[in-house]
Amino acid sequence: MTSLSPPIATIEVLPDLAALVNRAYDYVHQQLQQGIAQRGQATLALSGGSTPRPLYERLAQADLAWSQIQVFWGDERFVPPDHPDSNYRMARQAWLDHVPLPSQNIHPMPTVGFDPETAAAHYAQTLQTAFGTAPGVWPQFDVMLLGMGDDGHTASLFPGTAALDVRDRLVTVGEKSGEPRITLTYPVLQQSRLILFMAAGASKQAALRQIFAPQADAAQYPARAVQAASSENNLVWLLDSAAGEGIPENIAIVRST
Ligand code: 6PG
Repeated sequence: MTSLSPPIATIEVLPDLAALVNRAYDYVHQQLQQGIAQRGQATLALSGGSTPRPLYERLAQADLAWSQIQVFWGDERFVPPDHPDSNYRMARQAWLDHVPLPSQNIHPMPTVGFDPETAAAHYAQTLQTAFGTAPGVWPQFDVMLLGMGDDGHTASLFPGTAALDVRDRLVTVGEKSGEPRITLTYPVLQQSRLILFMAAGASKQAALRQIFAPQADAAQYPARAVQAASSENNLVWLLDSAAGEGIPENIAIVRST
C-alpha cells in the first residue's frame, strides 16, 4: 500500500527527551482539561514502550479531575497484567497507582482467559460501551498517545502484518515476530481529537525519513498511514533533536528551544 502523501502534521523538534516530555505533558494536560470542560469527561489511550514512561511519571504529579478521566490502551502485549512486558503494568507503576483515579476508570486490554481474537472483540465491546457508540461508529478519544518503533510501527501495527488492513473493526490482533498483540486499528487512532506521537533518539531517523518522504510504502512504515481523520483532529509529532534529523528538508518543522 503506497501512501502517496506523507502525514499532514505539526512536527515539533525539542532539544532533548526532557523537553519533549514537558511539551507532551502540556499537550495532554490541555486536551484533558478541554475534554472535561466541554463534555464532562476526557478519554485517553496510552502507548507502551519506553518513551512515554517519563510522561506518565510527570502526569502522576498532575492536579486533574481524575474521576472525570477514562484511561484506555492503544495496544498491549499479550502477556499477564503483572508481566514485565505489560504496557498496563508500566503505566500503573509510573502513574496510575499514584493518582486517585477510580479503578472503574481504568480499562486495560484483556490478556488473560481469552485467545487474542476474543480479547480483541471484548475490548471493542468495552470501547463501544464506554463511548456509547453503535457498531460501525468510531469512538473518538480526546488523546491518543502513540510511539514509533525503529521499524516505523506504531501501536501494534507492525510492517507487513494483516492488522494494517483491518479497517472495519475497532480492535484487532497484531503480531510482532510471531508474538500476538492487541491493538486499536487505524480508523480509531485517526478519529482522536489529539493524536500525539513521541519519538526520541537517532535510531528513529531512518523510519521518520520514510514516513515523511513524498512517497513511501506505508505497509513498511505503518506510522505513515496515521493521518488525521478530518480537520478537527490534531496530528502532532514530538521529536527530540536526534530523531528530528530524520525529517526531510522539504517538511516544515517547529524547532522549540
Ligand atoms: C509497545 C508500544 C509501541 C511503542 C514503540 C516505540 O507496545 O511497545 O505501543 O508501539 O510505542 O515500540 O517504543 P519506544 O518508545 O520504546 O521507542
